Formats: sequence, structure tokens, C-alpha cells
Amino acid sequence: MDKRLVGILAGSILAFGIAPATAQELGNTAKGLDYAKRVCAECHGVEKFDELSPNPDAPTFKNVADTPGMTGTALVVWLQSPHPSMPHIVVPDDVRNDLIEYILSLKDKR
Ligand code: HEC
Repeated sequence: MDKRLVGILAGSILAFGIAPATAQELGNTAKGLDYAKRVCAECHGVEKFDELSPNPDAPTFKNVADTPGMTGTALVVWLQSPHPSMPHIVVPDDVRNDLIEYILSLKDKR
């Protein structure tokens, strides 16, 4: 890893106070669901068998996961950019992976 990246990582750990142990690649889907229920469920159907979202303009997370080409990277980008139709919710760094892992886990397995 180059020094600059190490600096950025160390900086964000300091800035957000997350323990290095949470900087793992795969998130914890149970924690992701828990967060989604608290923060996203106001508008989105967040559970696997939700067919409708409380806000009809918001896709269910199952639909999001099944969007062709949907990837973790696309979700990170979505969550980090503002949207006119969705409040800009800043998802804390330590739950972002959990949340994304959870959404992607809803994708139909072939
Ligand atoms: C106040 C309502 C509201 C809340 C709360 C909300 N969203 Fe949304 N979200 C929307 C709406 C409306 C759209 C559709 C916007 C569009 O397509 O332009 C959307 C779209 C999305 C999309 C894009 C789907 C796609 O196919 O491009 C993702 C991903 C998403 N939301 C994730 C989340 C997550 C994760 C949370 C919780 C951290 C959240 N949203 C909280 C209203 C909300």
C-alpha cells in the first residue's frame, strides 16, 4: 500500500473514531439491516420480501439489488452524492459496508 493511502486511511480512522477492526472488506448484513430499518425504512422497503416502499418514489432495496450492474461501488457513489429526491443522509463510515453488503445480499442468487 502506498504511503499516501495509509495516510488517508489513518486520517479517516482518527476523524471518525472507528477502530481498525471495523475496516473490513465484507460488512455485517445484520447490522446493515438494523441500520436500514432505523434510517432508510421511512421511505424504502428495506426487507427482502417488501414489495412496496412507504415512499412510492423510492425503490425497494430488493429492487435496488436486482438492478442490472448494481455493485458495491455504485452504492458507495450513490450514498456519497446528493440527490434531489432523497435527503442526503451521511451514512457513518463504520456502517457503510454493512449497509451495502446487506443491500447486495438481497440480489437473487442464480
Ligand atoms: C426521505 C425518503 C428517503 C430516505 C430516508 C432514504 N431514501 Fe433512498 N431514495 C429515495 C427516493 C425518493 C429515491 C428515488 C430517487 C431517484 O431515483 O432519483 C431513492 C433512491 C435510492 C437509491 C437508488 C436506487 C437506484 O436504483 O438508483 C438507493 C441506493 C437508496 N435510495 C438508498 C438509500 C439508503 C441506503 C437509505 C438509508 C441510509 C435511503 N436511501 C434513505 C428516498 C429516500
